[in-house]
Amino acid sequence: MPPLRPRLLITRRVFPEVIEALSTGFALTTNDEDRSWSADELRARIAQTDALYAVAVDRIDASVIDAAPRLQIIATGSVGTNHIDLGACRARGIQVTNTPEVLNEATADMAWALLMATARRVTESERWLRAGHWQGWAWEQFLGADVHRTTLGIVGMGRIGSAIARRAQGFAMRIVYHNRRPSPAAEALGAQLLPLDELLAQADHVVLMLPYSAAVHHCIGASELARMKPVATLINLARGGIVNDAALARALQTGVIAAAGLDVFEGEPAINPELLACSNVVLTPHIGSATRSSRLGMAMLAARNLLAWKEGQALLTPVVPG
Ligand code: DGY
Repeated sequence: MPPLRPRLLITRRVFPEVIEALSTGFALTTNDEDRSWSADELRARIAQTDALYAVAVDRIDASVIDAAPRLQIIATGSVGTNHIDLGACRARGIQVTNTPEVLNEATADMAWALLMATARRVTESERWLRAGHWQGWAWEQFLGADVHRTTLGIVGMGRIGSAIARRAQGFAMRIVYHNRRPSPAAEALGAQLLPLDELLAQADHVVLMLPYSAAVHHCIGASELARMKPVATLINLARGGIVNDAALARALQTGVIAAAGLDVFEGEPAINPELLACSNVVLTPHIGSATRSSRLGMAMLAARNLLAWKEGQALLTPVVPG
């Protein structure tokens, strides 16, 4: 049973709408600095907390859970939950919720923004232009890769993967995908399920959209990159750690693949310096879901889960139910 006015810790500065929704029912402690707390800082603040409002970059491991003897619920404002030790939560009976669906379309749009920018060398040519190098039009200036009528490979055909695939139809693309199980939504779009090796060999553009777990750590490394076409692009909007960033930097430097577009990184916000040095990579700071409506939708869904818990109602989007 939640206490009458549970103590809620909010780990990052959040939309005023969220504060307004939660301030009556909860005793709030917020992080107004808008920077991530270190594990030590989080452990120091969580001891008296009944409920935690977290984000994808908070590391909520077993040591944080141990430091929170009163904790009953974690609402994360993210669809991904790999930053939370779900096993430790289950063992303690701590409920966990996430924010699926509300970010699907915005994230699929961003996958296409990265794919187009990468294939057509948008940021690379812009940097060159701004640096004053442009002397005029030329036949072979910044030749990129075709997107239309090529083969798109989607690794991880969940809700966001399907939204990416739907958009590919407008580009008359052949769609192949790799997933743990066949996806009826993808099959309805004519997409073909392939083993990962086959997908990597056939696709002109590979988009990674699978959830992170230890089982998929570095599932794209040197040998997988070597299976891809030398003209191929690789797009990662899923999680850092799925791609071996050092191996990817080498592949980009040596022409194993043509280009990459990355929104997530191993150990972010730090970026592998070798990647930073590559001109054929487009880098964005984990903004896949970053439109106002999508981020507000995520933030409010997390808040609504907390309100439901407080009222003893069923959680809207449980990951670890009560
Ligand atoms: C998610 O929802 O998991 C995103 O990575 C957060 O932006």
